[in-house]
Amino acid sequence: MLTEKTVAAILELQKHYPEKRSALIPALHLAQDEVGYLPHEVQEEVAKLFGLDTTEVHAIVTFYDMFFEEPVGETIIHVCKNASCMLRGCDEVLQKLCHKLNIKPGETTKDGKYTVIASECLGACDRAPMMLVGETVVGPVTDLDKVIDNG
Ligand code: FES
Repeated sequence: MLTEKTVAAILELQKHYPEKRSALIPALHLAQDEVGYLPHEVQEEVAKLFGLDTTEVHAIVTFYDMFFEEPVGETIIHVCKNASCMLRGCDEVLQKLCHKLNIKPGETTKDGKYTVIASECLGACDRAPMMLVGETVVGPVTDLDKVIDNG
């Protein structure tokens, strides 16, 4: 399922670590960048490249909320739900965002444009309440219309 190019990139990555399994997370990012998510077959393929059991790869994939086992939207929106953001209104931000997109946390819009995920601390507490829209940190969130184009 992975292209030769991605397989080669993963094998190259492994050379940069004393233990090749240390390259597992960046390798999973490469695989996900190519496929869009990490279905079981891809996890199996990555596991083989590392000489690991698929259950070990599966444990990593299901631990981190940056990895997806199901197809997701073109843009992932992570809304931080941790302490600083909670104190500064993230619940309301998440509720308004989901209402605006007509989905619940963890779901993808019907047009496949957005997936919303309630996340743990995203490391930008000084910008609370914040969210990560694709790879862009947005916060403090004041006006969702400026953030999300849902037209
Ligand atoms: S608590 Fe929200 S970014 Fe840290």
